[in-house]
Amino acid sequence: MKLSKVLLLVVTLAMILAVIGCGASAPAAQPAPAKEQPAQAEKAPAAEKTYADLVVGYAQIGAESEWRTANTASIKEEAEKLGVELKFSDAQQKQENQIKAIRSFIAQQVDVIGVSPVVETGWETVFQEAKDAGIPVILVDRRAAVPEDLYTTYLGSDFVEEGRRAGEAMDKILGGKGKIVELVGTVGSAPANDRAKGFREYIADKPGMEIIASQSGDFTRAKGKEVMEAFLKTHGKDITALYAHNDDMAIGAIQAIEEYGLKPGEDIKIVSVDAVRGAFEAMIAGKLNCTVECNPLLGPQFYDLALKVVNGQEVPKWVPSEEGVYYPEEAAALLPERKY
Ligand code: AHR
Repeated sequence: MKLSKVLLLVVTLAMILAVIGCGASAPAAQPAPAKEQPAQAEKAPAAEKTYADLVVGYAQIGAESEWRTANTASIKEEAEKLGVELKFSDAQQKQENQIKAIRSFIAQQVDVIGVSPVVETGWETVFQEAKDAGIPVILVDRRAAVPEDLYTTYLGSDFVEEGRRAGEAMDKILGGKGKIVELVGTVGSAPANDRAKGFREYIADKPGMEIIASQSGDFTRAKGKEVMEAFLKTHGKDITALYAHNDDMAIGAIQAIEEYGLKPGEDIKIVSVDAVRGAFEAMIAGKLNCTVECNPLLGPQFYDLALKVVNGQEVPKWVPSEEGVYYPEEAAALLPERKY
């Protein structure tokens, strides 16, 4: 073989070996390093819901009073205004109907359930069902006696405080001395339990103020009248004052007192709770001596809470409503601006 050929062969072999050698020592091809991603990027955060996305189920008690009518109007009108889809149920004052409504809201997979519990007890099972379905429950207007993990928040009044305020007003009006009859709200309801409690708390150290009879008028005008008639039949002119857990029962009782031949507001002093328009009219007519406010216009705060809750925002366990106490002297000036 010619020397030039031998050289060519050697050079070629060397090149082949170099290529093979390089290949062997080259680091194994690595996949391109993954771009560092923020933790959430893998799972895009759910877009914030707006009012227009909200589907709300609302289990209302019924239409037992002027107060309730105003409350229902506030819940419905605000939904309409905000564009919330509202599924509204009127339970006609029956707990079993409210429970049925809640179960139907769960089946329809609403975003939030609002409920004003007609009575305090008996809610654990159905609230647990809502919790298991991942649907938050907001108590509106009335509390329920359930563990705190079964509801998200309570929006409404301090009924015990309303009772104390009524006691204080009665004390002022009677000058610390009187025989009082009491028209209680729906038996077992939070406002009936708490307004009775607060009133008793206040008069506990007023030996001159005595409750001589106490019975439920179920928060209605008709029942208030009927029970007042029975009180008058039994106690007649011994009665110097009436404490009614709501204005509607007081208004019914006013009729009974007049029919009995006595003057409401004079012969029998009257303090009630709610501060609805009818109470202001009765005060202007001199037939009612005081009304303690309980605010029914809860629609705006309710949907604000509902939206926060579905968007995972923290809300307080109790959102109290602001309320006043009203006497006849200011009734005429305030009536035109009363919304309910
Ligand atoms: O829960 C609020 C009470 O319910 C109101 O005071 C009464 O009028 C209503 O029916």
